Amino acid sequence: MKIKKLPSYVLVFVAFPVLMISCNSEPKSNIESTPTKEKTIVTPSVTPAPADSSASQLADPALAVGEKLYTENCKVCHNLNTVTLIGPGLAGINERRPQEWLIPWIKNSQKVIASGDKYAVELFNKYNKVPMPNYDYSNEQIQSILAYIAKNEQK
Ligand code: HEC
Repeated sequence: MKIKKLPSYVLVFVAFPVLMISCNSEPKSNIESTPTKEKTIVTPSVTPAPADSSASQLADPALAVGEKLYTENCKVCHNLNTVTLIGPGLAGINERRPQEWLIPWIKNSQKVIASGDKYAVELFNKYNKVPMPNYDYSNEQIQSILAYIAKNEQK
């Protein structure tokens, strides 16, 4: 029963091993004991996320990945609006900079600054030369963060 109510991203990242174990130990018992209202739903991954989940509005699993990465790594320094925290508010970042700039920047901002990129140098100076940490993420992971920002920014 528990497993069926979890949002799909939790299943992918957290509960998959649990799911495998529970499938072995109690095959189909969940489904057979399900109240009539839910009896047509047999696959946990197609069950809609519960309304109280923070990820409930994220239909796309990539957005859930982006939310997790953003919350755990970026939120401490960046707002989703235009107000500066440690770094600039990231609302509108997808219009402000192209992905060809954003991806290398997030991977290694100091490298972009060292390359002499004018925007990067000015930004770095404006923010009192506080360097951003490097993130060894794939392009897809960074794109999921940017998609999460695009969906949740407050301009
Ligand atoms: C320790 C604080 C800190 C963390 C954590 C951090 N940043 Fe930054 N970020 C900054 C600062 C400060 C700047 C301004 C440039 C500089 O000083 O290097 C910046 C600039 C940026 C910019 C350019 C903004 C603009 O207006 O052009 C982007 C994009 C960005 N950060 C994305 C991220 C993402 C995505 C993460 C998480 C994966 C992250 N940052 C984590 C401090 C941080």
